Amino acid sequence: MDHATPLANPFREGLGRATAPGPCCFVLFGATGDLCARKLLPALYNLAREGLTPAEFYVLGVSRKPQSDLQWRTAMQQAVAKYSRHQPLDPAVWEAFAQRLGYQACEFGNPAQYADLRVRLDDIDRRWGTAGNRLFYLAVAPEFFASIPSQLGAVGLLGESGGRWTRVVVEKPFGTDLTSAEALSTHLRGLLRERQIYRIDHYLGKETVQNILTLRFGNAIFEPLWDRRYIEAVQITVAETVGMEGRRGPFYERAGALRDMVQNHMMQLLSLVAMEPPAAWHAEAIRDEKAKVLQALAPLSAEQVATQVVRGQYTRGYLLGEEALGYREEDGVAADSATETFVALRTELRTWRWSGVPFYLRHGKRLPKRASEIAVTFRQPPLALFQNPDDPSGNTLVLRLQPDEGLSLSFLSKVPGMRLQRRQVKMDFNYGSAFGTASPEAYERLILDALIGDSTLFTRDDEVQYAWRFVSSLLDGLAAQGPAGMTTYEAGTWGPPAADRLLLADHAWRRL
Ligand code: BG6
Repeated sequence: MDHATPLANPFREGLGRATAPGPCCFVLFGATGDLCARKLLPALYNLAREGLTPAEFYVLGVSRKPQSDLQWRTAMQQAVAKYSRHQPLDPAVWEAFAQRLGYQACEFGNPAQYADLRVRLDDIDRRWGTAGNRLFYLAVAPEFFASIPSQLGAVGLLGESGGRWTRVVVEKPFGTDLTSAEALSTHLRGLLRERQIYRIDHYLGKETVQNILTLRFGNAIFEPLWDRRYIEAVQITVAETVGMEGRRGPFYERAGALRDMVQNHMMQLLSLVAMEPPAAWHAEAIRDEKAKVLQALAPLSAEQVATQVVRGQYTRGYLLGEEALGYREEDGVAADSATETFVALRTELRTWRWSGVPFYLRHGKRLPKRASEIAVTFRQPPLALFQNPDDPSGNTLVLRLQPDEGLSLSFLSKVPGMRLQRRQVKMDFNYGSAFGTASPEAYERLILDALIGDSTLFTRDDEVQYAWRFVSSLLDGLAAQGPAGMTTYEAGTWGPPAADRLLLADHAWRRL
């Protein structure tokens, strides 16, 4: 295998860092969980398949359930065979990869078992040459985000002496509101340096999301227009058809759309689309600019929440030709649940670049279509030369993040013929037809970056806190409204009609 395969991605190339990770042990807490089976193990296997994992590598799954190495390997083989983007499973690659998969049972609250873990990790270093470098990945319930690092610290597993490195990847949600996020952050910073903490937001690993910066800062034609003088509004939509899938109800009940998607993924999209050009193409410079956007997001008062935020819950309906349950009928969901499955909001950024430009954000489960996009609508020409009010004018640049990855720019064109008729037409770019290759999964990219020690695509502490400051204000405002503030929408529709009332005059939610 070629371990030095260069990665064709400007995010990394500009950094001038190593493109292949060095020896290390990947310690995966939550090894029997859903995320591990669906995303993490398939991503590790895909990296190994492409020769991107180091020669001296070991994956140690850690979870409460007692089981042998072999039992876990077998379960992971099935998971990879089912969920990897490379089908079918390549037996030779799997065999080589599986030799470096082990399992260690650990009750997360039991100090003695962390001592056992340490012994096991030292043994792995000796046998597999992993050199004492460890990446602890916390794919566990959020209540363990603080205690697992404490326990690791207590048995000396967070140290970096003798040139060894230790990193901790923390899954979302990072806190449940501003106060808890601050407390978690303070706790982790008592144990680790910021450069050792990797807060993962898998949206940043998506190719199309990374491409927002390439598009904006790699082309001279967009940036001069990218401000309040030329942009009328920005609309960010993350629409999903999935509901609770029979298993997510208990988790989602405690999260809801705001905590599950808006605080993290949508805030990241907003920061990338609105940030200033970074001073340099490296992690801190890019994250500095993203953090400034989130800092400029003013918390909303209860009165503003009442007019700028709409939440909803799906009821029984039809989706993709099938009947879909209502949210309150889903497994693990309370019959009188107050959790939102849809949220739409209008906000503004208090910066010179964006003052006065509405940013509309919309996300929901059980919507008619899976589609995520950022639509930037430009202002109308200053003088209406064409008097026909039926001529739809204006330009919209749409970044299609998934699933039909691409970009389109709409503009007005004359319809051929003797009559002066105009119509909106589109220039369209599609990743599939332009590049022809399947993009790596977001988790592949992010795991590789964490192994290399590149934190560009991970969220920094201040970004998380600013995002929470804003989202906590929404949560507070909505809580003050009580149950009366909850609207409903039928599964398979575009959300509650009340979402329309957030829009300023002449604006409309895009039909996707
Ligand atoms: C996760 C959320 O972070 O992102 C899920 O917890 C959501 O509720 C998922 O479905 C969406 O990810 P993607 O990559 O399918 O857009």
